[in-house]
Amino acid sequence: MKLDQLAYAVIGSARIPEWRDFAVKVLGTMTEDGPDGALYLKYDEWHYRVLVLPAPDERFVAAGWSVRSRAAYLAALDDAKAAGLTVEEGGAEECDVRMVKEFFRFRDPNGTDHEVCWGRTMSAIPFVSPAGVSRFVTGDLGMGHVVLPSRGDFEECLGFYENVMGLEYSDFFGRRVGPDGKQLRGYFFHCDNARQHSLALIEAPDPTGLIHFLVEVGTLDDVGRAMDRARDEGAPLVRSLGRHVNDSVVSFYLESPSGFHIEYGFGGEVMDWTDHEVRNVSYGTHWGHEWQPGYASEVPTSKPGT
Ligand SMILES: [Fe+2]
Repeated sequence: MKLDQLAYAVIGSARIPEWRDFAVKVLGTMTEDGPDGALYLKYDEWHYRVLVLPAPDERFVAAGWSVRSRAAYLAALDDAKAAGLTVEEGGAEECDVRMVKEFFRFRDPNGTDHEVCWGRTMSAIPFVSPAGVSRFVTGDLGMGHVVLPSRGDFEECLGFYENVMGLEYSDFFGRRVGPDGKQLRGYFFHCDNARQHSLALIEAPDPTGLIHFLVEVGTLDDVGRAMDRARDEGAPLVRSLGRHVNDSVVSFYLESPSGFHIEYGFGGEVMDWTDHEVRNVSYGTHWGHEWQPGYASEVPTSKPGT
């Protein structure tokens, strides 16, 4: 299938009030209450980019991918069926909550649900950040990226992303870590836009089903001010400021109310894929991104040899 962008993320949470506070005071997004206790996080011209649904516990519900037309949607649906996937088309109520014309969902070999939609809803309200964020970098690049934990067969999942979902490799790492020399791998994928990666799969567990998602903001000052707000609001810092190798993002990581992390960054590379060579980036970070006390890392982030 051909997916245009990572349009939205769906989170299930028992902590909707905490999410509302966190979104406004720390992330700097607008929020709007949805039907049946749902919460929308709005940070551009669309009605939302993150949908938080009431749930008994904290979990990643789905990655939402958009295509541009009904014809493209039907083609993606055909592809999913032809690949033998168990496909479930969203009912009217679910489409209403997601504010899309139609969507279908399927599960990847890792147990992560994906949704493909068309006909998203624009917001009538101009985006004005309640925390003074200049802007969130979205548009054709999508909402950011999701980094998924590996809970199943890693190789099978890579093949699924490439061959069934039609994602393309951006880059990868894989190296021996720790005293037992365990191989640790991470693979980064892009869809049909210039964001360096919209989805990554890391060979590490996470009980909520999500390692982190990225929000990208317009300036370095937006990142610095968010660090200040996180400190002031008591949102735990997970990783210090640092710069990634593959997408060049300067970012820090904080803990969301659901426990998974959010990468808050600036300066993502806008890719021209024409001559791109898929690289083994071998390490994740040029500098910084130090894990803070209490947050053990399974993921190699430091320079080679350390
Ligand atoms: Fe990231």
